[in-house]
Amino acid sequence: MYQDLSTPLRTILTPGPVEVDPRVLRVMSTPIVGQFDPAFTSIMNEVMGMLRSLFKTKNQWAFPVDGTSRSGIEAMLCSVIKPGDRVLVPVYGRFGNLLIEICERYGAKVDILEQEWGKVFEPAEIIQAIDDKQPDIVALVHAETSTGRMQPLKDIGEACRKKDVLFIVDAVASIGGVDVRVDEWCIDGLIAGTQKCLSVPSGMAPLTYNERIEKRIALRKKVERGIATEEELQQTNSLYIKSNYFDLTMLQDYWGPRRLNHHTEATSMLYALREGLRLVLEEGLDERFARHQYHEKALVAGLEAMGLSLFGDPNVKLPTVTCIAVPEGIDADAVRKMLLDMFGIEIASSFGPLHGKIWRIGTMGYSCRRENVLAVLGALEAVLVYFGAPIHKGEALKTAINYYA
Ligand SMILES: Cc1ncc(COP(=O)(O)O)c(C=O)c1O
Repeated sequence: MYQDLSTPLRTILTPGPVEVDPRVLRVMSTPIVGQFDPAFTSIMNEVMGMLRSLFKTKNQWAFPVDGTSRSGIEAMLCSVIKPGDRVLVPVYGRFGNLLIEICERYGAKVDILEQEWGKVFEPAEIIQAIDDKQPDIVALVHAETSTGRMQPLKDIGEACRKKDVLFIVDAVASIGGVDVRVDEWCIDGLIAGTQKCLSVPSGMAPLTYNERIEKRIALRKKVERGIATEEELQQTNSLYIKSNYFDLTMLQDYWGPRRLNHHTEATSMLYALREGLRLVLEEGLDERFARHQYHEKALVAGLEAMGLSLFGDPNVKLPTVTCIAVPEGIDADAVRKMLLDMFGIEIASSFGPLHGKIWRIGTMGYSCRRENVLAVLGALEAVLVYFGAPIHKGEALKTAINYYA
């Protein structure tokens, strides 16, 4: 009744999921071993070590949660937030709203600071809001895939540390594509994604947290077990962590030397993550970040030569996502459809107020290659000419080829 699985070969230039490195796909067919087999636990330890290097941290805890990136965000927030905690969420795009929703679901009182989409915050603005609102936690997106902007974190992290506020960062779209320094930027908890700049399929959310968070969740564990002292009970109004799957104390016991049984690890995904991380470290972090900027420059030069305008504040552009203002009178979705149907190239729209107004081109991980940049420039020009957009013909590829040459 059903045919063998067969998918078209695509050029994927969205902000995730992106093309997976063939070497990652290959290791995914490696035979399964049991999750407590020493052959497997040594892979777990290797992955933790590689994640520490990627995150630039000395944290003991650096491991993946099984699930998509938001599973890592939810694990971090539900383990840290006690009902009634105050969380400050500065929002400058769609994924800030995701942080708000998750915080509220776990009983936080959320203070929201809003910035126009396409810009980021002056760090001083967030630091002022910390003084005004006195939050327990600041939760912030590092790289807003919805608007292609990147929020500088260092000053905010330092301010949080000084004021004893926990600083939790969604680095889902930046990790592996741009520099992220967990320890130096005073980040207490950070969540990454696999399906973007790491070029691993979606399905795991690597995260890390320090002893400030570890201490806080350990106290909640004591409450759960009924072994907290009176004094400790007074320090916390917490009930135990409400999720079993996302309880970081349980995940910690599974990833740590005790190897306490929790979930059944997603073996093939861990193989994939290990290979993805190995390739990142083999390329070199600085070299990888430079590669992303190199191809971003070619793409931007080509788009501008075509006469298209880029969306958003250029000073805080995320190097791995380029947002283009859709020219007047052009049907944004029709262009994307023709790119996919005729050229096998996928680019993205955006969310909410930006849907139909901008296109987003992701140049992330394995997708971030010269042939992809040239392919999308050529195809986009052809489709825009077809739809009668007023562009400069022939300029985009000439500019990009000159740049590469
Ligand atoms: C910045 C950011 N945070 C969170 C997410 C949610 O990730 P997922 O869809 O893998 O759950 C995404 C996904 O695009 C993202 O770009």
